[in-house]
Amino acid sequence: MSSGNIRLFMWVSSILCLICGSYGFVPQDHYLIDCGSPINTSVGDRVFVADTSDSNALSTPQEIFAKTTLKPVSLSNDSALYETARILNGPSIYTFPIKKLGRHWVRLYFFPFVFQSYDLSTAKFSVSAQNITLFKDFHVGNGSQVKEYSLNVTSSNLVLTFTPSSKSFAFINALEVLSLPDELTPESARTINDPPGSYQSVSNKALETIARVNMGDETVFPQNDTLWRLWISDDMYLLHNNLAEFVSNITAVNSTIARAMVNIAPAIVYGTATKLMNSGEDPNINANVTWRFSVDPGFEYLVRFHFCDIVSISPNNLFFNVYINSMLVSRNLDLSHLTSNIIGAPYFMDVITRVNDISKLNVSVGPSNVGNPSPNAILNGLEVMKISTSKGSLDVLDSDLKKGSKMKVGVIVGLAVGIFTAVIVAISLFVVCRRRRRRKYAHVNHSKAEENFATSGMVTKYSNNGAAIFSSSKTGYRFPFVAIQEATDYFSESLVVGVGGFGKVYKGILRDETKVAVKRGVSYSRQGFAEFQTEIEMLSMFRHRHLVSLIGYCDEQNEMIIIYEYMENGTLKNHLYDSDLPSLSWPQRLEICIGSARGLHYLHTGSTKAIIHRDVKSANILLDEKFMAKVADFGLSKTGPEIDKTHVSTAVKGSFGYLDPEYLTRQQLTEKSDVYSFGVVMLEVLCGRPVIDPSLPTEKVSLVEWAMNSLKRGKLEEIVDPCLAGQIKPDSLRKFGEIADKCLAGCGMDRPSMGDVLWNLECALQLQGSEEKPDPQGQSLPVNHVNNLETNASIAQFSMGSVGDLAGISMSTVFAQMVKEDPR
Ligand SMILES: *[C@@H]1O[C@H](CO)[C@@H](O)[C@H](O)[C@H]1NC(C)=O
Ligand SMILES: *[C@@H]1O[C@H](CO)[C@@H](O)[C@H](O)[C@H]1NC(C)=O
Ligand SMILES: *[C@@H]1O[C@H](CO)[C@@H](O)[C@H](O)[C@H]1NC(C)=O
Ligand SMILES: *[C@@H]1O[C@H](CO)[C@@H](O)[C@H](O)[C@H]1NC(C)=O
Ligand SMILES: *[C@@H]1O[C@H](CO)[C@@H](O)[C@H](O)[C@H]1NC(C)=O
Ligand SMILES: *[C@@H]1O[C@H](CO)[C@@H](O)[C@H](O)[C@H]1NC(C)=O
Ligand SMILES: *[C@@H]1O[C@H](CO)[C@@H](O)[C@H](O)[C@H]1NC(C)=O
Ligand SMILES: *[C@@H]1O[C@H](CO)[C@@H](O)[C@H](O)[C@H]1NC(C)=O
Ligand SMILES: *[C@@H]1O[C@H](CO)[C@@H](O)[C@H](O)[C@H]1NC(C)=O
Ligand SMILES: *[C@@H]1O[C@H](CO)[C@@H](O)[C@H](O)[C@H]1NC(C)=O
Repeated sequence: MSSGNIRLFMWVSSILCLICGSYGFVPQDHYLIDCGSPINTSVGDRVFVADTSDSNALSTPQEIFAKTTLKPVSLSNDSALYETARILNGPSIYTFPIKKLGRHWVRLYFFPFVFQSYDLSTAKFSVSAQNITLFKDFHVGNGSQVKEYSLNVTSSNLVLTFTPSSKSFAFINALEVLSLPDELTPESARTINDPPGSYQSVSNKALETIARVNMGDETVFPQNDTLWRLWISDDMYLLHNNLAEFVSNITAVNSTIARAMVNIAPAIVYGTATKLMNSGEDPNINANVTWRFSVDPGFEYLVRFHFCDIVSISPNNLFFNVYINSMLVSRNLDLSHLTSNIIGAPYFMDVITRVNDISKLNVSVGPSNVGNPSPNAILNGLEVMKISTSKGSLDVLDSDLKKGSKMKVGVIVGLAVGIFTAVIVAISLFVVCRRRRRRKYAHVNHSKAEENFATSGMVTKYSNNGAAIFSSSKTGYRFPFVAIQEATDYFSESLVVGVGGFGKVYKGILRDETKVAVKRGVSYSRQGFAEFQTEIEMLSMFRHRHLVSLIGYCDEQNEMIIIYEYMENGTLKNHLYDSDLPSLSWPQRLEICIGSARGLHYLHTGSTKAIIHRDVKSANILLDEKFMAKVADFGLSKTGPEIDKTHVSTAVKGSFGYLDPEYLTRQQLTEKSDVYSFGVVMLEVLCGRPVIDPSLPTEKVSLVEWAMNSLKRGKLEEIVDPCLAGQIKPDSLRKFGEIADKCLAGCGMDRPSMGDVLWNLECALQLQGSEEKPDPQGQSLPVNHVNNLETNASIAQFSMGSVGDLAGISMSTVFAQMVKEDPR
């Protein structure tokens, strides 16, 4: 061969290499199926083949091909894939012959739509691959989504199993199985939890992609990635993005190295970055850039950082620190050192971290203290992958496997979601329902029901599994599901007395003729299993006349049912506005406030651990047949700060309009948060209007703002519910206003305790005089005509701590600075 030929050969082969390198990863195993579709569908340069019964699928006979005309909004330009789906009515198996052992991606495409009698968004099912649980009893949320799993396939077939949950079905819109280049997945990585620095193997673990992000506020689409990955812009994950600056310079990336690493991440990922805001003028700038991801606590995560110095002109200029959840990942990271002084060389780094307790993973980069003139920090790309547990699950923690049922821990818990949930939950718990016909089922034979219960395999199975859920509650509380079906006439719609985000509330009648309220949680409701459990634990722990009593619960068959005593008169809210019920008199309203204050006071002080209700509102105060108030809904309750040190990091929960502004801003939960919410309820009681009423003029939309304004101007009479006109004695009104004002103090320390509130409410009732007092039912103190309140022993009994803290405070008291309770 002449030298010219050699040169030509080298030239040709380098061109070939170039082509292979830039566009040409050809996976040995590459299955693309457009499920339920009779035709092949092109997405970019790939063809998803029509779904024929013999195409890899060994499926059930009850499969159905579904079709929709809806097209979801999809970043990946793959919306055609979502127009069809295969519905699976029984356990179904897809088998893919594998040519190359090792890492494969399984991508599952979902888009729930309605087809004939199937509403795909109600489908609940599990998917496993080999011996790995990918997800369990899962509901696909609204909108399209792609779930991506990385599995180390060690046998010649990859088997995917779809299992519908009981009485449900499974579905899938499209499927993708793809063998991966060996260099993509590490066999082990450094851990930053204890012992820090040790290495942990992931070669047998499955990984689920939680986030794949391109920094620099630019999305990279699958058609620009050799492995058809979607790199989402980091903007939505950035906290405080005023500290961040987006940079882009693709030409600064060393293309030789980038080409070699193209399967790790495309050059355009490395060519954009988010860096710390240019601090040229202020060298003392001291801040981190932080991205925040929602994760499931208890799992380990593999975090891959992609770096490329596209900002420096010379080496050894950029030093920075890297953190995950405030734990140090790298101190004084010097990219030029790691890349042999080649500026613009892509570099990646893997780290494993365990996320405990919290459902957030923070990734931060920040300046180091090594002597560089202008501190800076940079990140180009990031991937977060969940690692399967030692028992092979990506959905259920090993410690939860013992339990009979599980709820997906809220994946997206944030302020916004918390408030959104709260708005939904705020839909009233009960709608008063007076003329309900008695049901015939009351005399269903007892032993027959017991027998059904015992012989139904399904029920027995679940009841055995579920027995361990509530170790702390008394077993007597546990009801068989059949007994509840019986009491509610198989959850008859005609017995529904309330609907909320959690599900429905039914009126029921037990065999012994006890009327009960049956709250049946939808298993996928946001309120979820944790709240179900909390509520039962709280209720079984406490018995008080002013707390709604727990009669029982049922957790069979993944049900989340709580049975309460029936409250004839529904919610306080219903009696205040937006209903045609007769208006409550002022003394009645005071009694109700006193009753609920007493319930809360008991919660706060009744046991060694203070219990914080966290969702005090008029919709959670229920009235019995004699209008005695009872506090309900303990789903969000928590033990107080002195016991529970984690209170600071708790996601903000509660109801919009009632949230303590201090809790919102500092996330510090104390009993005083309940006091604030109670103050809002007092204003509702006084004014007879909703907390937020967008139909009113701006200055009146927020009840708190509007009422506090009038209070400040000493014009309390202006805001009183017109139904109460002329009923309230000025002294009683003044006292009531004072208490509400104190409760609503911006700073928790300035608010009275519930005991003080109670004492002062008693005063307000005294000041009103007893002649109009309704039947006290022995709930309130005997009202004697004693003017000197301090000598009234039965009142003094409730003045905990600072007796008369509020007494004698004049209207001119400086009002604590009000923080707008509207969280934005
Ligand atoms: C779909 O594509 C495959 C190969 O890619 C081909 O064998 C098959 O005939 C095509 N089917 C239809 C319905 O076009
Ligand atoms: C999406 O796909 C269509 C047709 O397949 C193509 O015309 C269009 O350019 C694609 N859009 C993007 C952003 O790739
Ligand atoms: C999902 O969509 C359905 C129908 O459009 C809607 O009723 C439901 O509220 C949506 N759920 C969520 C969580 O957005
Ligand atoms: C897959 O697992 C095998 C054995 O279990 C291991 O030897 C191999 O390194 C793993 N491959 C990867 C890519 O982790
Ligand atoms: C992404 O791919 C499209 C089509 O394949 C191409 O037109 C576009 O220039 C690419 N974008 C980048 C940033 O390379
Ligand atoms: C991009 O990087 C190259 C090489 O480092 C440099 O010459 C060029 O000035 C940079 N462009 C911008 C806009 O910063
Ligand atoms: C890119 O990296 C290679 C080494 O892989 C090096 O030889 C070359 O000089 C680098 N190019 C630039 C522009 O720095
Ligand atoms: C994440 O960062 C935010 C804002 O800095 C902080 O409030 C939160 O506590 C951090 N979470 C963790 C787990 O560090
Ligand atoms: C960046 O975050 C880490 C961990 O939370 C913290 O220790 C450090 O002080 C922060 N740096 C700056 C400049 O805020
Ligand atoms: C799953 O199967 C593979 C190979 O059969 C084995 O190496 C692995 O340990 C198994 N994982 C679990 C969680 O049983």
